[in-house]
Amino acid sequence: MKNKTVTVTDNRTGKKYDFPILEPTIGPDVVDISKFYSDTGMFTFDRGFTSTASCRSKITYIDGGKGKLMYRGYDIAFLATKKSFLETTYLLLHKKLPDKETLKDFSLEVKKRSFIHEGMKKLFDAFPDRAHPMAILAAGVSALSTFYFDHLDIDSPDEYMEMATRVVAKIPTIAALSYRYSQGLPVIYPDMEKGFTENFLYMLRGYPHSHIELKPIEIKALDTIFTLHADHEQNASTTAVRVVGSTHAHPYACVASGISALWGRAHGGANESVIRQLELIGSVENVDKYIAKAKDPNDSFRLMGFGHRVYKNFDPRATILKNIQQELVSELNLDSSLMAIAKKIEDIALSDEYFIERNLYPNIDFYSGIILQALKIPKEMFAVIFVIGRTPGWIAQWIELKEQDSIKIARPRQLYLGPTERTPKY
Ligand code: CMC
Repeated sequence: MKNKTVTVTDNRTGKKYDFPILEPTIGPDVVDISKFYSDTGMFTFDRGFTSTASCRSKITYIDGGKGKLMYRGYDIAFLATKKSFLETTYLLLHKKLPDKETLKDFSLEVKKRSFIHEGMKKLFDAFPDRAHPMAILAAGVSALSTFYFDHLDIDSPDEYMEMATRVVAKIPTIAALSYRYSQGLPVIYPDMEKGFTENFLYMLRGYPHSHIELKPIEIKALDTIFTLHADHEQNASTTAVRVVGSTHAHPYACVASGISALWGRAHGGANESVIRQLELIGSVENVDKYIAKAKDPNDSFRLMGFGHRVYKNFDPRATILKNIQQELVSELNLDSSLMAIAKKIEDIALSDEYFIERNLYPNIDFYSGIILQALKIPKEMFAVIFVIGRTPGWIAQWIELKEQDSIKIARPRQLYLGPTERTPKY
């Protein structure tokens, strides 16, 4: 059968060019334009990469129209409700779900690597009080390569898998330390007896030499948030990781760049904005006023936690978190004023024509912000939580990049609109 192509006609010259169509296992076909410039002498323009597939990948599939998300072929609802974050991490890194024995070994390997070099504490000491934990986290991850320089060979699979396990294991410890140092609180070391998510909550909320009671629903809620964030194909931070990786940088450098890319409010900062907005609204009585502002075309105010670029029907991650939120409310007897405001916004938005017509549904950040608030996690740690969840995805994408036959450095071109050559006055 003849290979499928798409034909582009240059209307200025009538010349026709054929470009191959690549077929995915599922999802839209992809036109291979890698020879577009050499064939036509023109660049393509796609601001924000809205129509561009930047790589081949076997990790995550999203169908925004159907509200479908899968990691390595497993539906997100199955992973989030039946598997732990650590199992999902193993799936992303090793391409298959672990059996019981493998999970036990993997969990032990992660625990053994959860401690950080004591010398790193000097680095944390150098930051001023109230330094944002995201800045400390990015610096801490970048610094890992200076403390763990024994396995930095990115051409050795054993060494890069060691780096992969180290990053996954150490990020929660660096994240918790970032917060404790930023608040001047005593450091809590990882506890080998605790599971991945329980350990993080313990390092964040605990007191030295004393036991703290963490409720299973709290651990489950956070573990689910981690799983739901674990990968989301070629989003901004993952693209940053792949771009840096394409220069043959090691995973510590790539993950540090992913953290920086995630920090902005259009990406990992959105759930913090949800809570700040609920606080701004202040009371249930004010909700109608703010809904009117969100609908007013002359007002730039938007309801945080509503709408999504890819999911135009519903965000499958939000559906799962809504259930978790309900479990939390009933098990912890939560009844905060912010939750009441959120509930009223949700009820209005789901029945209001403005939101229905524009497919504006609550997204993952609407519920994750409220859940993290209920878990007493400080707002400045919300993006950090996102980082812990997204790390296995970044690493899996880095490994996939590395396992290709050859790496092509990411080097886009541009539509130049600056001055043509100026005549200098000598
Ligand atoms: N509140 C009020 N109106 C909205 C909102 C909102 N949150 N989002 C979109 N609209 C309106 C927008 O004004 C426009 O109306 P009109 O057609 O009358 O001009 C229409 O809906 C389409 O908006 P758009 O900006 O073209 O949609 P987009 O797909 O480019 O933007 C979005 C998606 C997520 C940036 C946007 O919905 C938004 O700003 N939401 C609030 C911020 C937020 O919750 N971000 C987290 C997203 S999930 C993060 C993740 O998956 O990593």
